Amino acid sequence: MKSYINIHDLGTIPEAIEKAIALKEKPHAHPSLGKHKTLVMLFFNASLRTRLSTEKAARNLGMDAMVLNLSDAWNLEYEDGSIMNLNTAEHVKEAAKVISQYADIIAIRAFPSLSDKQKDEAEQVLTNFAKYATVPVVNLESATAHPLQAFADAITVEEFKIRKRPKVVLSWAPHPKALPQSVANSFVRMMKELDIEFSITHPEGYELHPKITEGIPVHYDQEEALENADFVYTKNWSSYSDYGQILSTDSNWMITQNKLGKAKFMHCLPVRRNVVVEDAVLDGENSIVIEQANNRTYAAQFVLKNILETIS
Ligand code: CP
Repeated sequence: MKSYINIHDLGTIPEAIEKAIALKEKPHAHPSLGKHKTLVMLFFNASLRTRLSTEKAARNLGMDAMVLNLSDAWNLEYEDGSIMNLNTAEHVKEAAKVISQYADIIAIRAFPSLSDKQKDEAEQVLTNFAKYATVPVVNLESATAHPLQAFADAITVEEFKIRKRPKVVLSWAPHPKALPQSVANSFVRMMKELDIEFSITHPEGYELHPKITEGIPVHYDQEEALENADFVYTKNWSSYSDYGQILSTDSNWMITQNKLGKAKFMHCLPVRRNVVVEDAVLDGENSIVIEQANNRTYAAQFVLKNILETIS
């Protein structure tokens, strides 16, 4: 693996899931693979899980990890040919090349603006770092994708499924803030790669990018969609068509124990209790959100291991 930008960099996905589960069983089986190699993680936005699980994955492989919160660094310029006499102090061309002097792998988190669809879809930060860095790049959640989360989600479905072809439903839920579509986008892309029965439910106006959801049934009736589900993956996202807007905060879309039935509850976290999902679900035995978060380590470890094997 040269870099990890989207889920298709995993290669054959069922094989990648199997290998990540094997890594989870023996996480310290490759303690020297990353010896004298450094992972630099750049965070333009906050994180709990991604930061800690990726650092843990790096340490399991013997790597050093360094974190830079970009709020503590110079404002970067991304436009080619710009006259930098305003607020940006350093161009990504220098920044990416300089960081490459200190890093063997660069991992980046950079959320979308949710105000400029074209710029967000161009993935300005990730694309420019991938272009100018001289080392591999890992996507820790970009403007439109969260491929490490989706990989952990797929591992979790594989571990918890009790039917060969489980029914998985992605359900939108309300949230007081406008959130990116990145988790939902990568989850849909990942579920399309698995042998499952998959559908999406959300209020009208919350359709994701039509190319991503092509071929997937979409229901506007949440209760009907959730019937007989084995897994209910819940996530809020802002509107894609009315870009970045909150069109509904209808609390009837909150996931309740009654709606969940016997299904397993999944969410990438962080989650707002009693807004997105009621306490009874999160505190109940069908919630697998902690196991899902645990799998972030092994998803990241699989990716780092494969990149290290390529550059070693
Ligand atoms: N799920 C996830 O990416 O969590 P963090 O934002 O805490 O990293």
